Amino acid sequence: MSVTVRVPAKVNVQLAVGAARADGFHDLANVFLAVGLHDEVTVTPADELRITCEGPDADQVPLDRTNLAARAALALAARRGIEPNVHIHIAKDIPVAGGMAGGSADGAGALLACNTLWGTGASRAELLAICAELGSDVPFSLVGGAALGVGRGEQLTVLEVGGTFHWVFAMAGRGLSTPAVFREFDRLAQGQDIPEPVASAELLEALAKGDAEALAAAVSNDLQPAALSLFPELADTLEAGRGASALAALVSGSGPTTAFLVRDAEAAEKVAAALRASGTCGAVRTAAGPVAGATVL
Ligand code: C5P
Repeated sequence: MSVTVRVPAKVNVQLAVGAARADGFHDLANVFLAVGLHDEVTVTPADELRITCEGPDADQVPLDRTNLAARAALALAARRGIEPNVHIHIAKDIPVAGGMAGGSADGAGALLACNTLWGTGASRAELLAICAELGSDVPFSLVGGAALGVGRGEQLTVLEVGGTFHWVFAMAGRGLSTPAVFREFDRLAQGQDIPEPVASAELLEALAKGDAEALAAAVSNDLQPAALSLFPELADTLEAGRGASALAALVSGSGPTTAFLVRDAEAAEKVAAALRASGTCGAVRTAAGPVAGATVL
């Protein structure tokens, strides 16, 4: 018997970052939107915990107990006093180390899959608590749709969205480490007054109305200068997307994936073709959101 869970990627339409806290994390106002790029996590009973991965970036995925999918299985098993003996297989379509919560998706997916396979019956609240222990973005991978995350991003309020938003995503030739991008944020912020992070009222209204132009005018990412500082070539990709008439161009989360908001599916194909032709990035994908969070297939 196996259980397969499908989990979406995310883009941050707003990522407001506060000053570093005493614990090293940063308070955030993080507006997540789940988009239609998915990983599928399958768990099957086995003699011991092991992980395999397939997909274009599979060689970059750690197959040991540092993988968030393994940590999720271990966390649930430890709470129930059972052996975490499962084979976790990840069919990976979300870019690795890309700023689209691919690792978090696998953590949330494995947790939901193991909960189903083992009949552990953990409540939604317990699953969310385990997700928050695993990482700041993991609860959102479980919930999906659109949500505002505060605290370090793990305290979620679900947001209503009045339409579908169309996106183009440009992958970069290499990944960026999230801690390194936050460290660079701290370095660039030295000596400056960092305001408390707050969600933009205009942005929340644009989401609620499903208004792509208004959303484009309101998107922001406080980590973008840090990501560009560590990966200056991303500026060329952003410029190529803007030149191809994307409504908005921004770095996704801590990057280095760049995200382009467009009017509709037709515009997405046009911008995707222009980005491919620009030679400024790796693979280019189109996806729309919001989509559902982790779902048992
Ligand atoms: O929570 P998660 O393990 O995904 O965070 C990865 C790293 O990103 C943290 O170790 C920290 O360096 C940084 N981070 C942060 N503030 C947040 C979320 C993440 O500084 N709110």
